[in-house]
Amino acid sequence: MNKNKVILSIETSCDDTSIAIFENNLLKANVTMSSLLEQRKYGGIVPEVASRSHCDLIDIVYKKALVEANVRCDDLTHIAYTAEPGLVGSLHVGKVFAKQLASLLNIPCLPLNHMVGHVFSYFIDHNEKPTFPFITLIVSGGHTFIALFKSIQNYTILNSCNDDAAGEALDKIGRTLGLEYPGGISIDKAYDDQKSFLSFIKHSPPKNPFSFSGIKTATLNFINSRKMKDEDYDVCEIGSSVLKWVCDDLILKLKFYISQYNIKYILLGGGVSANSLLRKMMKENFQENIVLIPSLKYTGDNAAMIGIYSYYLLESKEQNEQ
Ligand code: KG4
Ligand code: ZN
Repeated sequence: MNKNKVILSIETSCDDTSIAIFENNLLKANVTMSSLLEQRKYGGIVPEVASRSHCDLIDIVYKKALVEANVRCDDLTHIAYTAEPGLVGSLHVGKVFAKQLASLLNIPCLPLNHMVGHVFSYFIDHNEKPTFPFITLIVSGGHTFIALFKSIQNYTILNSCNDDAAGEALDKIGRTLGLEYPGGISIDKAYDDQKSFLSFIKHSPPKNPFSFSGIKTATLNFINSRKMKDEDYDVCEIGSSVLKWVCDDLILKLKFYISQYNIKYILLGGGVSANSLLRKMMKENFQENIVLIPSLKYTGDNAAMIGIYSYYLLESKEQNEQ
């Protein structure tokens, strides 16, 4: 029989200092503090600011999480932390904290992949076990990919992005349009269906890797040429058209891979999965009962996704050992 697990998970890959506590697959606490407001002054993430902020916040977040979960540190059975990918200094703060705590308590410490955490974020507050195989579309600030999961430990990346990720492109376009950082959220708020018809570039065939630097460059050129000629441009029209292009591109590629495999369901994840248009198009383009979309509060970076991933990973390893 599987033993009771009390897992403390740590996420510090970018600007959020987040710690969650799970008792098995039940979320007991998820505390996040962020350097976003400070980063906003610079119009983007400054790695040094992020790592300093993690150093200042991690102990406060840890203590709050224990209180919220109503557990003592001695109750913990496992520590899990984001080991990669992310900002080197920020990751390091989480890693050192995780290793020291695990060493003090003499319990196992699991280094985990942030992006795979995003894949499992739907399961944080949905009390169902992941069923394999599934296909996942992960859209974040640093990565965009489609993967086939045959089990929690066996997955294949079917398509990924070598240049600007979808969120990164939206953020850069948002900044040039003068919108508040992060641009992805601002463009979501400004989106208007009736203003999404500007055509910048064509979509590449679905088998080609994701690429969002082309749409970014085309849009920035469009804005800059208007600025140089002292001509007006419609921020809402540009933002809406770019967002529509990005969502169309994601769906076009996802449809292609869905048609190739016999899967149980489709999982969406990553910061951009908070986007209203993308969430709507996922439901319109695929059978609604096979599309699993995380709750809004778990789309962005959070430690709960690392915690739930570690829980199902430990379960699967225990089953394999039996
Ligand atoms: O997953 P995430 O929180 O961090 C990374 O792992 O990168 O993703 C952050 C990205 C940013 O680019 C942000 O602009 C984007 O997610 N984002 C959104 C929305 N909320 C966050 N993009 C579009 N619409 C949103 N509602
Ligand atoms: Zn992320």
